[in-house]
Amino acid sequence: MTDEAQRQDQIIQELSQHIKGKGLTFFIGTFGCQMNALDSEKIEGILTEIGYTKAENEKTADFLIYNTCCVRENAELKIFGKLGALKHRKKTKPNFMVALCGCMMQQDVVMDTLKKKYKFVDIIFGTYNIYKLPELLQARIETGQNIIDIWKTHEDIVEDLPSIRKHAFKSCVNIMYGCNNFCTYCIVPYVRGRERSRSVDDICEQVETLVNDGVKEIMLLGQNVNSYGKNLDDKPTFSYLLERLATIDGLRRIRFMTSHPKDFSDELIEVIAKHNNISKGLHLPIQSGSDSILRRMNRVYSREEYLDLVRKIKSRISNATITTDIIVGFPGESDQDFQDTLSVVEEVKFLSAFTFIYSKRTGTPAASMTNQVSEEVVKERFNQLVATVNNISANFMQDQVGQKYEILLEETSKNDTQMLSGRTDTGILVHVHVNDASNFIGQFVNVKIISAKTHYLIGDLI
Ligand code: 5AD
Ligand code: SF4
Repeated sequence: MTDEAQRQDQIIQELSQHIKGKGLTFFIGTFGCQMNALDSEKIEGILTEIGYTKAENEKTADFLIYNTCCVRENAELKIFGKLGALKHRKKTKPNFMVALCGCMMQQDVVMDTLKKKYKFVDIIFGTYNIYKLPELLQARIETGQNIIDIWKTHEDIVEDLPSIRKHAFKSCVNIMYGCNNFCTYCIVPYVRGRERSRSVDDICEQVETLVNDGVKEIMLLGQNVNSYGKNLDDKPTFSYLLERLATIDGLRRIRFMTSHPKDFSDELIEVIAKHNNISKGLHLPIQSGSDSILRRMNRVYSREEYLDLVRKIKSRISNATITTDIIVGFPGESDQDFQDTLSVVEEVKFLSAFTFIYSKRTGTPAASMTNQVSEEVVKERFNQLVATVNNISANFMQDQVGQKYEILLEETSKNDTQMLSGRTDTGILVHVHVNDASNFIGQFVNVKIISAKTHYLIGDLI
């Protein structure tokens, strides 16, 4: 354990004496991406170690934490809406505490608003100092003052604090933090800082510990995993890391996200092709099919380069599936640019696509581009894109009927409690009929696909 982790651990022990026997509960509201979900597991680990227990829902919690996202404006508006509704509760329940953390807090404009309009928030911290939560909570309790601690940049990466895994059989693992790409629409580099990678040994050690603890699938997380290792002395590549992890005994499946198409190497394709336990479902955000938009987004690849990469992947890994992210309505997007996006979607035949309406983010270069697209046009294009994506996905799913797949069963199906949901090695969602659900969660099973919907398959055990 590092000195810093030890120091926080000591504070956790002190706080637990204070909290013990009080029956206090917490609730974490998590917004945004998998990075935030993983950060919330860390927060949950810290609070549980201190002696808080999980509240049934956010209305009953004694300590409410919102881990925020600012990638699009909608996510921010939700938080301000929730805060507005908390004002009254804060007045009537004096011991009720609210903390805010995550990406939104790293923006000066947000902090100005919070300081002016939402003075009741007890603790505010950012993306770089989650591990300091014990210290911040202690300061809040001891001084009775509200605590704001936002760092403009990172110091050390502190990993070895308690964390509560959501699932026994699968886990996410951070391999790097931050992003250096500065896509012109994106706020992430401003709120998550420059790229910094964890060492290969630290990651392997963590994954080995997880596997010994029963984890069968890991998801490696980074804003751009393909630039893993660039800031480390011995410059390990992502393919090297992946190959080391693939040889860990008992690790059945490795997934990773997100890959930037600009630096998806041939070596990486070889490593994925070579190891059965590396998932063949690849998330490769394209953002747009138009060269001029890609250029103005600063994506550093052309439409043809993206298509070349997909062809290369599919020729080497025949069962690979590609999922993607697409933004509609980037400033200056013409009808022709949008048609180029539709045609690239048809050409690649993505398994699925996360489709987003462009959201203007203050401080990014795209926010000051003049020719913003009207809301009406964007909505029309968005609907057309979703219809195209769904149509391709439905056809793909229909083609899978009769096929056999090995899937990892993960949880009770959201649509039908008599079924379990899992994923194939290629990332396809499958719902399966089982008799005794609890015996199957976390197990790999073989299924035959009996029917298909737009976004998922239905299968029977074989
Ligand atoms: N507006 C809309 N979508 C965005 N994304 C990132 N920034 C914006 C923005 N300003 C999308 C991109 C990215 C995904 C995580 O979020 O498609 O890949
Ligand atoms: Fe944002 Fe681009 Fe970095 Fe992804 S690669 S986090 S879209 S700046």
